[in-house]
Amino acid sequence: MTVLHLRAAGASLVLDARGGVPTIIHWGSDLGGLDETALVALADASVPAVPPSSIDVPLQWSLWPALADGWSGRQAVEGHRQGAPAPAFRLVELHDQDPIARVRGESADGSLGLTTELELSAEGVLRVRHRLVNRGDTGFELAGLDVQLPIGADAAELLDFTGLWAHERQPQRAPLRHGVWSRESRHGRPGHDDAFLLMAGVPGFGFRRGRVWAVHLAWSGDKRLFAERSALGHSALGGGELLAPGEIRLAPGESYETPWLVAAFSETGIDGLSDRLHPWIRSRSALRLPRPVVLNTWEAVYFDHDLPILENLVDAAAAAGVERFVLDDGWFTGRRDDKRALGDWYVDPAVWPDGLHPLISRVISAGMDFGLWVEPEMISPDSALAREHPSWILGGGSGPTWRWQRVLDLGNPAAYAYLRDRLSALLTEYPIAFLKWDHNRDLLVPGTSHRQTRALYRLLGELRSAFPHVEIESCASGGARIDLGILDLVDRFWTSDTNDPLDRQRIQRWTSVLIPPEYLGGHLGDATAHVTGRHAALGFRLATALFGSAGIEWNLTTASGADRAVIAGWIALHKRLRPLLHTGTVVRADAPDPAFRVHGVVSPDRSSAVYALVAVGSPSAALPPPIRFPGLDPDRAYTVRPIGTPPKAVQDTPPAWLAAGSVTLPGRVLAEAGLPVPLLAPEQALLLEVS
Ligand code: DGJ
Repeated sequence: MTVLHLRAAGASLVLDARGGVPTIIHWGSDLGGLDETALVALADASVPAVPPSSIDVPLQWSLWPALADGWSGRQAVEGHRQGAPAPAFRLVELHDQDPIARVRGESADGSLGLTTELELSAEGVLRVRHRLVNRGDTGFELAGLDVQLPIGADAAELLDFTGLWAHERQPQRAPLRHGVWSRESRHGRPGHDDAFLLMAGVPGFGFRRGRVWAVHLAWSGDKRLFAERSALGHSALGGGELLAPGEIRLAPGESYETPWLVAAFSETGIDGLSDRLHPWIRSRSALRLPRPVVLNTWEAVYFDHDLPILENLVDAAAAAGVERFVLDDGWFTGRRDDKRALGDWYVDPAVWPDGLHPLISRVISAGMDFGLWVEPEMISPDSALAREHPSWILGGGSGPTWRWQRVLDLGNPAAYAYLRDRLSALLTEYPIAFLKWDHNRDLLVPGTSHRQTRALYRLLGELRSAFPHVEIESCASGGARIDLGILDLVDRFWTSDTNDPLDRQRIQRWTSVLIPPEYLGGHLGDATAHVTGRHAALGFRLATALFGSAGIEWNLTTASGADRAVIAGWIALHKRLRPLLHTGTVVRADAPDPAFRVHGVVSPDRSSAVYALVAVGSPSAALPPPIRFPGLDPDRAYTVRPIGTPPKAVQDTPPAWLAAGSVTLPGRVLAEAGLPVPLLAPEQALLLEVS
């Protein structure tokens, strides 16, 4: 056993695993190449003083914080065996086998085993998870198993997220003081208010500045992320599944494994986190590029499924350059509104006498592929399925309905098999390329989140191996289930139910701190947003939907010929730019005037980039601050020119470089001095291509 140094891409983790209690000596900036002697010297030198009125041995940050070792903060293991609380653990074995280090421990009596896996990816993303095994001969009631990582004492400010339907990913900051800041989800899905990514950094850390540590839990059910600063002198970020009393009882021989806690450290602000997380996520996923441009029928027709109307929409979509046509809610038996029929996954013969074949043929002959909306984990009380199998309803149908629906108990083998077979039958009968997989309510049945989430993962896994060509989108009333657990099994997220570009600017900006833009559905909606009733100019809506997995959520047949031509031009622009947008480095500027936001994507070789200057409000000065371009090579010359629909600007003359059509300057100048901006009206966006 040894002192372990995981080191990659400017980040280091040092674990003293020489015996006793394994301690994390450092997680943060790169400590450089240290040989064994230096590592041992570091570990020895890291033993702190013993303060008065404390335990009589030095207290170091344990990989497995435990009360019995003197740690009175959050514990690694919570639970009991017949009333006897969880013990402390001692190191038994270290297996450092690239890329995963396994640290195995045991309780003193050997009745519990605890193994921790740590992996630092080439991109500098740290993943850690625990596995607890019951080796005793009685049951162990597990109340919690959390991974915790120490952070720097200078990390005194927290940033995480809250939100609500159609307003996901609202950032919130708070000072990190003594105590615990715990963000807990009991939705049975992460929820619209998901903490998502809990960051702790030096006060005032921004997109491009400040040291920051961050954690995310790769799990789609109940969970908690927390930060703790203790009067004992330590600060940590942590997380784990939020277990209800009695939810996990380990019988003799059984084990429980936590979801991965995904963690990253950055010297250079929030963008530095994305710089690690995006390439890592991309390297792990088999996402097929290019991402097809989508038309989704929800806000176009809602439940009014009518073949001739949809055929016209197919033709309009194909003429604009759309590549995937998705039929949303309303196609299955009896589903004329959102009050009934979930579970009856048969094409409604009253609406579709020839099945979906005529529509799908039209879609395919127009050169697009076809996608279908489903909400498999749900059941309407008013459905044939619920009438036939009332026992398949999770929790037996007590408690309030939500959107007039209940949850199908995936832990019931018959219900699970019905669902798998029904979905398989649909995927076999029809040439479906894409499932929009929705989930429109919280579970609200205590103690079921764990097994329901595991069953969901199993179902998605089974369907993916049986139908590997089918892509799946995770949707949960918009963006209530966006996490790295489900991302192993899906290809796209529906980022939010709002297509209002003003709200979308915030939601996409923050969701893409963790998730690369090509996974995030962003659609062009109606001029008057259906969710907010706010009017937005076409150019602003298009600029907002350009960067992610782009699409349309609008009845194009009602758009004017002129608008349709602009939309076709936008789709052509997106197709030209998507190789860059969907592989490049996402950058955001720290804006001196909150009315303006700058974001962009820089190609991996930094030869080209696309930026958006977005006016979300009115400027606080007649001449707003110049736009500065983060992420370029300082020593190369770049030409900057506007693209896309020209925004409305309230000005007598534009800035000279824009009047000239373009400017060529070194990357250093563009990043440091920047360029004067046009005087954009509120809710306008200027797109700039840099090459
Ligand atoms: C909620 C989704 O987020 C919407 O996009 C839409 O699919 C509706 N459900 C359909 O019921």
